[in-house]
Amino acid sequence: MQFRVLLARANRLFRAMRQEFAKPDDAWAAAYLPEPELRIYTSMDARDREHATRVAKRLLQLKPDSSQILIRAALLHDCGKQVRPYRWTERVWAGLQPIRHLDFETTMQKKQPLTALEVRALHPQLGAMLIRSGGGEARVAEIVDRHHHPLDDADAAWIHAVDELE
Ligand SMILES: [Fe+2]
Ligand SMILES: [Fe+2]
Repeated sequence: MQFRVLLARANRLFRAMRQEFAKPDDAWAAAYLPEPELRIYTSMDARDREHATRVAKRLLQLKPDSSQILIRAALLHDCGKQVRPYRWTERVWAGLQPIRHLDFETTMQKKQPLTALEVRALHPQLGAMLIRSGGGEARVAEIVDRHHHPLDDADAAWIHAVDELE
């Protein structure tokens, strides 16, 4: 793993400990997000909002011609994590596990709330579902859906790459 990726993770760990440490630039995000998507963004934990705005701003630095859709997807890429309350110890623990492949439909049919590992594995699909059902843009949902496994989706590949830095 690259040194700067490790450094970014250590920095993120420190800021993850308390919601009050987070300083999301919500006004900046609100200028990009239409109302249905802003509602989803606003319901995210402040620490996830801070990460999201950092990813979106870094994306704009590295790719100044980023489309509005791509910036909106960057701001919402981890919105699926809000299905479970933010517990920083759990986030750190889950973050150290390899991402397992889980079948979305099968996992969603379970009665009990999703575990931390399930949310880690499925938050791209969960986020896409929240965006679609909340009245957000279909292409924003699609990019969010693919942000861990972009394959040939260039927009999703940008978010995947910048996500590693923030
Ligand atoms: Fe993610
Ligand atoms: Fe992320």
